[in-house]
Amino acid sequence: MVPIISTEAISREFHVGKDVVHALKDININIEAKTLTILKGRSGSGKTTLINILGGLDKPSSGKLVFDGEEITKLTLNKIDNIRRKHMGFIFQSFALISLMSAFENVEFALKIAGYSYSEAKKRAEECLELVGLTKRMHHRPQEMSGGEQQRVAIARAIAHNPRIIFADEPTAELDSHNAVLVMKLFRDLVEKEGITIVMTTHDPNMMELGDCVITLEDGLVIEEKQNELFKGEANNGSM
Ligand SMILES: Nc1ncnc2c1ncn2[C@@H]1O[C@H](COP(=O)(O)OP(=O)(O)OP(=O)(O)O)[C@@H](O)[C@H]1O
Ligand SMILES: [Mg+2]
Repeated sequence: MVPIISTEAISREFHVGKDVVHALKDININIEAKTLTILKGRSGSGKTTLINILGGLDKPSSGKLVFDGEEITKLTLNKIDNIRRKHMGFIFQSFALISLMSAFENVEFALKIAGYSYSEAKKRAEECLELVGLTKRMHHRPQEMSGGEQQRVAIARAIAHNPRIIFADEPTAELDSHNAVLVMKLFRDLVEKEGITIVMTTHDPNMMELGDCVITLEDGLVIEEKQNELFKGEANNGSM
């Protein structure tokens, strides 16, 4: 299968005064489309650095990043921005919602920025909030919602423009275990029913079994890549 993202010998160094931090060293990974990939590893192992590079938010110091057959690392920043806006969505640990806007307005606003007309944005915002099970809370502001609900608004916002891939850095870190599981179940539904690819980072060992692939980082290196055949089996059975 052709991966949606692949990296070749990616490294990222940060220069801090006279010191050099080798945050990533020689990363070679493939991410298959329509799967949920989990990046795990201790604090400081390079998860955020890697997910930012995969999502085109940061450039590697060396190496190649290919997205959907196109070598991103060769493109101008403008072109990378365009690919990101069109095909990628982002979810953050702290939800990053606009507090003065309702759930509906947060999603609608993102769609208007993406160029949707007023009526298209309204329809799509309602659709996405329904998809994440928040129709009843649509007109609540973030501070009137639980953490789990706020993260589901952020997910609705991230998927609203129909991206092919979602990047989520520690999306469950601020949630209790019940809400964390709800978010992970929603991710699985997005992968299986909507065909979205999701790459996320987490510290939580309980989440590992929900990934199709778990990539473990240590000191900027991939030390293990584990495929979870459970979901592959289900997907195959479903399509036969
Ligand atoms: N902008 C930066 N400048 C200098 N060093 C950085 C910068 N960003 C990250 N680093 C360093 O790179 C290494 C990897 O950091 P990164 O944030 O990717 O780790 P992480 O696995 O996401 O950790 P955590 O689980 O705590 O979020 C760390 O040693 C960190 O100190
Ligand atoms: Mg991090």
